[in-house]
Amino acid sequence: VTPPGDDAHNEGAVAALDAKGRVLTGFRPTGPLHVGHWFGNVMNMVRLQEDHEAFYFIADWHMLTTHYDRTAELPGNVRSLALDLVAAGVDPSRVTFYRQSDVKEVAELSLLLGMITPLGWLERVPTYKERLRDMAERDVANLGLLGYPVLQTVDITIVRGELVPVGEDQVSHLELSREIVRRFNRHYGDVLVEPRALLSKAPSVPGSDGRKMSKSLDNTIDVRDDEDAIRRKVRSFITDPQKVRLGDPGRPEICPIFALHGLFSPDIYEWTEENCRSGALPCVECKGNLADRIVAYYAPFRERRDELDRTPEVAETILAEGQAKVRAVVEDTMKAVRGAMSLG
Ligand code: TRP
Repeated sequence: VTPPGDDAHNEGAVAALDAKGRVLTGFRPTGPLHVGHWFGNVMNMVRLQEDHEAFYFIADWHMLTTHYDRTAELPGNVRSLALDLVAAGVDPSRVTFYRQSDVKEVAELSLLLGMITPLGWLERVPTYKERLRDMAERDVANLGLLGYPVLQTVDITIVRGELVPVGEDQVSHLELSREIVRRFNRHYGDVLVEPRALLSKAPSVPGSDGRKMSKSLDNTIDVRDDEDAIRRKVRSFITDPQKVRLGDPGRPEICPIFALHGLFSPDIYEWTEENCRSGALPCVECKGNLADRIVAYYAPFRERRDELDRTPEVAETILAEGQAKVRAVVEDTMKAVRGAMSLG
């Protein structure tokens, strides 16, 4: 068997943007939703639900792969992520929106797929090696973390997901999922469906230090930040380091503030570029313009979110409905899997 990561073998792991099929994606409840999530994943999820059958879930078991010592945070994080996604436009009446740990069969299928997943495939996954390196002082070298992509394969295959909207960093997981599915089907017959990644068109969003926006780098603007927090965080962003004095020309192409103008400021995008380059636009003013637009952009979201916060128990109701909705397809898949494997 050719190992994952071999391009020739895995071409086809990425679907065309207009592909049709059942959509499935998961979100780890690691903390507040930020602008990077919003443009990278959330807008995609909201758009895809319009013309696809979609399954969206909160990957609370996946969070334990790195945060097994922080389970006390889980219920609050799950609730707030559920409400954030609903306020952002994920429509639970249209999609199947549920919590991973409410589907116990996910654990069963994860055990079964583990039987046929070679250790070498898992040890080669780039995100595994990165996590081990980045969290060296945190005891994450556990079976659970190694098995992260197996669990992810289960998430997808247990509902027969075909298209998986994810970021570029997840393509290696999808390639591995396809390998596991092929191996399963070779042993037991054609039971599981090979998924493909659906990459978002949105460029990766820079944070305050110019690196990719990410909670772990502490460089985010969160979608629930209030006006003061947004203004303070925008002010803290780095800009072109060569633009020091008033009147110095700037280089928008290397400035994270200009990258964010690309997302929030269609009305002054060209104007900003010209006036930055000429030196006429001071960074302070440019940041103020951006903050104004981010505040306005998220105002409707914050209103809906505040509304939901008045009855926070709706999160549980929504997830319970999702659990009920996902049952049929899960039971169907597991019946086929157990049958194919001659299990009870
Ligand atoms: N690994 C994904 C992430 O970090 C989260 C995830 C878990 C997921 N299971 C999934 C994404 C299944 C897509 C499909 O963002």
